[in-house]
Parts: sequence; C-alpha cells; structure tokens
Amino acid sequence: MGGIEDKTGPMPVEMAGKVITCKAAVAWGPGLPLVIEEVRVDPPQKMEVRIKILFTSICHTDLSAWQGENEDQQVYPRIFGHEASGIVESVGEGVGDMKEGDHVVPIFNGECGDCVYCKCEKTNLCEKFRVNPFKSVMVNDGRSRFSTKHGEPIYHFLNTSTFSEYTVLDSACVVKVEPQVPLKKMTLLSCGVSTGVGAVWNSANVKAGSTVAIFGLGAVGLAVAEGARARGASKIIGVDINSEKFTKGKAMGITDFFNPKDVDKPVREKISEITGGGVDYSFECAGNLDVLREAFLSTHDVCPAFSHLHFHSPTLVL
Ligand SMILES: NC(=O)c1ccc[n+]([C@@H]2O[C@H](COP(=O)([O-])OP(=O)(O)OC[C@H]3O[C@@H](n4cnc5c(N)ncnc54)[C@H](O)[C@@H]3O)[C@@H](O)[C@H]2O)c1
Ligand SMILES: [Zn+2]
Ligand SMILES: [Zn+2]
Repeated sequence: MGGIEDKTGPMPVEMAGKVITCKAAVAWGPGLPLVIEEVRVDPPQKMEVRIKILFTSICHTDLSAWQGENEDQQVYPRIFGHEASGIVESVGEGVGDMKEGDHVVPIFNGECGDCVYCKCEKTNLCEKFRVNPFKSVMVNDGRSRFSTKHGEPIYHFLNTSTFSEYTVLDSACVVKVEPQVPLKKMTLLSCGVSTGVGAVWNSANVKAGSTVAIFGLGAVGLAVAEGARARGASKIIGVDINSEKFTKGKAMGITDFFNPKDVDKPVREKISEITGGGVDYSFECAGNLDVLREAFLSTHDVCPAFSHLHFHSPTLVL
C-alpha cells in the first residue's frame, strides 16, 4: 500500500463517540488478495485512541502474517499494517496526553509505563502492550473495534491495524510527534527505521571504529547501516541475495557488499576474510534461520577491544 493520502484538515467533530464507516484493506485468508471494502470502526474505549491514518507502508512482518506463515497467526478476517502515521480523531475516557488533531505515529511495541519491564532499563518489552503478532483483539475487553457492514468482527494486528482509514489503538501504542514534521516520512519511524537504528544504537550499542555485518538489506537492514554509520563503524559489510541492494546500501553507509550466491565459500568465511577473523557486530535482518546461524558465526571469537561480542537479530522477535 503506497499510502492512503488525505488532507490534514480538521476532523469531523460529530464523529467522536460514534461508529465510523470507512475503507480498509481486509485480509480474508492466508495469502488471499486484500480486499478494499467498507468497515465499521467503533469509538475508542477507556485509554484508547481512534486515529485517522494518513500514510501507511508495508513491512515484511505484514507480509509474513498475511501469508499465515505461522499457523497460530492465522486469524481472519484481519486488518494488517503497523507502519503508519496519522492524526488523532478522538480519544477514549482517561486519555490525558493526546487530543483530537494531534499528529501521531502508532507503535506496535507499546509502553504502559508502570510494569516491571517498562521500569527496567534493559528492555522495552512491556508486559501488557509488548509486540505480539498473535494478539488480535483489544486489551481492555478482548473484543475487536472493527466489524464488517454485517456486524461480523474483523480482527486487529500487532496492536495497530493501519491498513484502514481509521483505526483504534491503546493510547500506550501511540506516540505524539511535532506537528511540523512531515507525516509522510514518519511512517518508517513506526517500525523499519526505529527497529534497525535502535538495534545498533540501543541493543548492540555499536562502538566507533568497529566492524559490522548486515544480513539482508531491506528496510530494517538499511536502517541498521544508517545506525552503524552514525555510530562511526569503520567497516559495514552488507550481505544480500539481491545484488541491486548494494546501490541503496552504499547510500546508507555500506562499505563492502557481496551476494552469497556469487561466492564459492560459506558467508562466514568470506566475512572472516574481509575483516581478518570476523566482525565485532552482526545483524540478521532477513528473517531466515539459516541466515541467523551464519550471522552468528560471522562474529569473531576473541575481541581485545570490546568486553563481549554482539549478535543481534531484530527478526527473532517477530
Ligand atoms: N523485531 C522487529 O521489531 C522487526 C521489525 C521489522 C521487521 N522485522 C523482521 O525483519 C525481517 C526484515 O524485514 P524487512 O521489512 O526489512 O524485509 P525486506 O523484505 O524489506 O528485506 C529483506 C531483505 O533480505 C534479503 N534476503 C532474503 N533472503 C536472504 C538471504 N538468504 N541472505 C541474505 N539476504 C537475504 C532480501 O533480498 C531483502 O533485501 C523480516 O523477517 C521482518 O519480519 C522485525
Ligand atoms: Zn515492521
Ligand atoms: Zn509496561
């Protein structure tokens, strides 16, 4: 979905507290074409927010879930989408930090702010609103806020369901942004860019001068490259089975690139050759178990400069 474009004009005030009928892309079964159809969106309940989605993009996690790759995720009809930006249409009881008209970005990995995880510096996986691709209803009452025009429930995805003109989220899964920032670009902050840059910056805490390998140069991998460049990595090796990815990768900071299909040795050996023994940090961004293993084995085993080695896979979570 390239983006549901609209004007950021005032919201129809009379809709607050009422059901909204709007268009959404509904998935009716694993891999079946998304159907753009009219859906009903209930008003936000306690501590929930209803958002008018202005832009939404596709992440690979939407594709995997839509295909129903994991049987437990096969809940239909469902509205996918989690990378987006929009405007608050109305808020439910108890929401004090957002109001109608605020510019916002949905986040699938919400924060209640109170649980033991939210208070811990080592994790951002909230007990109540953590990323959970199996969740398909609201936390409040275990029900859906979407229905077909015949009143049948349509299920949520990843706390967000942004392939809809309007969606309801827990306020813990919404972040307010400054009104002057371009909402069109903000969608990527919802997932791809924050996942990749966050993996480098927060999880691995990449040090200046270090070496980095990135497996898979899609949205997440490119954001890892950008993060590694910003942290001053000396060598950033991109590995992708699609050689065209090198051009974009170079623009984002990749210094070396190879296509595993073009080399006649295991990837880890090629990386060892380039770096003289393996990288300091390795990021798996393809979502593939074999790649995960190769990424892990591409780190070097002894590191005099750093206290321990780093291996990170954003794809382990989803
Ligand atoms: N944990 C999280 O928060 C989080 C967030 C976003 C995405 N993800 C996951 O991260 C993965 C990547 O997402 P994306 O949106 O960047 O995907 P993408 O489809 O944009 O990019 C994937 C890239 O991997 C490459 N690739 C595929 N197989 C490969 C292989 N064997 N070796 C090397 N490269 C290979 C592809 O050519 C492509 O360039 C997916 O599995 C997605 O579900 C996790
Ligand atoms: Zn995503
Ligand atoms: Zn919490």
